[in-house]
Parts: sequence; C-alpha cells; structure tokens
Amino acid sequence: MATLEIKNLWVKVADIHILKGVNLTIQDHETVALLGPNGHGKSTLLSAIMGHPKYEITEGEILLDGKNVREMEVDERSRAGLFLGMQHPSEVPGVINSDFLKAAINVRREKPINLVELYKKLDDASKQMKIPLELSHRHLNEGFSGGERKRNEILQLLLLKPTIAMLDEIDSGLDVDALQAVSEAIKKIQRETKMSFLIISHYARLFQMIQPTRVVVMINGRIAVEGGPEVITKVDGSGYEWLTKEYGISIKKEEKNAKPISMNTISIGACATNEATKYAKK
Ligand SMILES: Nc1ncnc2c1ncn2[C@@H]1O[C@H](COP(=O)(O)OP(=O)(O)O)[C@@H](O)[C@H]1O
Ligand SMILES: [Mg+2]
Repeated sequence: MATLEIKNLWVKVADIHILKGVNLTIQDHETVALLGPNGHGKSTLLSAIMGHPKYEITEGEILLDGKNVREMEVDERSRAGLFLGMQHPSEVPGVINSDFLKAAINVRREKPINLVELYKKLDDASKQMKIPLELSHRHLNEGFSGGERKRNEILQLLLLKPTIAMLDEIDSGLDVDALQAVSEAIKKIQRETKMSFLIISHYARLFQMIQPTRVVVMINGRIAVEGGPEVITKVDGSGYEWLTKEYGISIKKEEKNAKPISMNTISIGACATNEATKYAKK
C-alpha cells in the first residue's frame, strides 16, 4: 500500500528551474501515463523524486505515505518502495549484476537471501524477460545492448518489488519482442500486486498494452492537463498543438544556457548500487 504525493515541486538543474510547481498524487494500484514534449521536465521529475544529486529541489514536498522523501538518501528512497527504471541505464563497471541485485534484495529483508533462492528468482525473472541468465553474471549494463538494458531494468523491478515504479521511456529503442516482454511483465504485476506505476512514453503502443488508469501531460515544467486514455489517442494523432487551442497553454521551450551535465559520471543507478553494496557489506 502506498501513496505518493508531489506538492508544488520546484526543481533546478544547473541553476535553471525546470520544474515549476508540479502537483501529482499517485494512489495504490494506479498506472499513470506521463506524456509531454521533449525537454519539458518529465525525466527531471522522476530523477528529483528518486533523489538524483544534480536535481535541486528548491520548493515543495514529496511524500510517500506521508513520509518526507526529501529527507531520505537515494538508498532509503529505494528501501521505502520507490524504483526508477532509467531512460539511459548506465554501465557500472566493477559491479556484477547479480551482486547488485542480491545487495538490493538483502537491504529489504531481515535475513539475507540464500543463493538457491536468489538463483531461482534470477532464473524465473530472466525467463520472463527473455534474456539469458548469463547477463546476471556480467558487470551491470556493461556491453549490454539497448534492449538488454531496458529488459534488465524490468528484471530489477520484478526482483525488488517496489510499491511505486517509475519507468522512463522504458519502451524506446525496443524491438517488438522486447516490447512484448516488458509490457507482459508490467501487466502481470498490475494483475497480481497493488504496485503503482508512473510511466513516461512517447508511444501509444505501450499504453495500449498496459492500459493506464490516468494520463497527465507535462508542459513547461508543470502538469498542464489530466485525463483518461483519450489524451493518449489525441497526442498520438496530432501531437501537442491542440493544448494551445483547447486550453490556451503555450508550448515553448525556454532558452537555456545550461551546460549539459554528464549523466554517466553520477547516476541514480550508480548511487543506488554503491549504497546497496555498502549496506550489503554491513
Ligand atoms: N543533467 C542536465 N544537465 C543540464 N540540463 C538538464 C539536465 N537534465 C535536464 N536538463 C534540462 O532540463 C530540460 C528538461 O529535461 P528533461 O527532464 O530530460 O525533459 P524530458 O524528459 O521531458 O524530455 C532539458 O531541456 C534540459 O535543458
Ligand atoms: Mg526524458
């Protein structure tokens, strides 16, 4: 059981406000589709919720079942039930995928998982995601294809069983088989658990398969429109221009002089991995 509440969230990246007062509540067992043109702050929202150090929250609240998420470190957020499947999962050389998963599972349990149980879980999840078990024995994401990285993100989701799963363009760059495996895994979770999803995608196809309960559109760092699946159909058919006509929302990307920050040197994945590994050693 979990409720995530975002209240008037303002977030700066490289000294520029990207999010300007986001309000969004996600209840138990909801699948919320997050749409919006590129560069309007969708990934920023997910990174800020997960606690990426480059995203500075200047105002607002993030509450998970009433608890103040802003006060939690990344690993605490993960243990509290938040999960981020990243748009570009980073390579983490030196960390074996299965060690990372074991550490992440163990911080959520009293007694460490035994190897037979871990192997069985990895085997089941790998079969479900249709990836070779051998990937779990390689360094995290190192040399993985784009599709393998995305499938591996969902494999982590299957093993970690968060309460709120945020997936950033999980379907971009996936072939038909991989898209099928990803959406089947999400549908199974929707049927069998009360996990909630916040899912960013540009493609109606994924949403047709996983059937969001609600759709929100982010424009210029705010949730501009909320609705049902009809919003996806509209965006898929005619982009975002109708927002200007129907709601008078002007879609402009602000001028930014911000230098891009390398997302590979410090990533949520790496932070969570380091923390999980640190905890596993305790
Ligand atoms: N790490 C970063 N470094 C510099 N600017 C960033 C960074 N992350 C996001 N931004 C800025 O914030 C804007 C919103 O980005 P993002 O949240 O990734 O948008 P979306 O996911 O909606 O495409 C981008 O146009 C970019 O200028
Ligand atoms: Mg993005």
